[in-house]
Amino acid sequence: MVRKKLIAGNWKMNCLTAEGTELAKAVAAQVKAEKLACDFLVCPPFTLLGAIKKCLRGTKIALGAQDVHFADKGAHTGDISPLMLTDLGCSYVIIGHSERRVDHFESNELIKQKAVAAHKAGLKTVICIGETGAERDAGKTIKVCQDEIFGSVPEDASAQNTVIAYEPIWAIGTGKTPTAADVEDVHAAVRAALAKKLGKATANKMRILYGGSVKPNNAAELLNLPDVDGALIGGASLKADDFVAIARNALK
Ligand code: 13P
Repeated sequence: MVRKKLIAGNWKMNCLTAEGTELAKAVAAQVKAEKLACDFLVCPPFTLLGAIKKCLRGTKIALGAQDVHFADKGAHTGDISPLMLTDLGCSYVIIGHSERRVDHFESNELIKQKAVAAHKAGLKTVICIGETGAERDAGKTIKVCQDEIFGSVPEDASAQNTVIAYEPIWAIGTGKTPTAADVEDVHAAVRAALAKKLGKATANKMRILYGGSVKPNNAAELLNLPDVDGALIGGASLKADDFVAIARNALK
């Protein structure tokens, strides 16, 4: 089964207009010049979506947001609806990132509700899962990840509208990563859980990204494993050279 790799940047709460547009333009120019055989996605903060959309014109880089509300509109102060994201030119949205699960107490149920709403609006979702350091030490990694798949991936998920991102929480922003063998074990277990939930055909086609301290120097080892279909990149996505270098290494 050939699954096209997806190289996705999660800018998190970084960049004001000048810095963000400069970064997007640099990424756009490099991706255009190199013609790498993978899909690209950048997810800037809400405030920059409109400006970054313009910088990505004429490229194959998709635009995504980092969160979404489940309602189309209404009395939800401070929230952003799926229709607002499509209106701005987004085609993807990240859902259930651990920073939202922890900082905003997001549950599997809420994440599933958001995914259903996003799909209904025509958005593709990147649904995040991953264990804490304590859970890993207790040998619970696979159980935690499978439970999050069963709890937060909606029944309408397909290989076209859903991407899974496995991000061990202890690896995010720390410079630490699991071994390649551990990453492959978890990804294979996640795919088995997806097969149980959505059927084998869908699970075999669905992309499962790895995220957590992905850098140019570890990309080749982590991203060419059989069940790893790309990366969700935080810190290194804020440097155009590093972001594109990761993509190059993911195809080795
Ligand atoms: P880092 O690449 O900075 O570890 O962040 C990973 C992440 O959380 C992407 O969503």
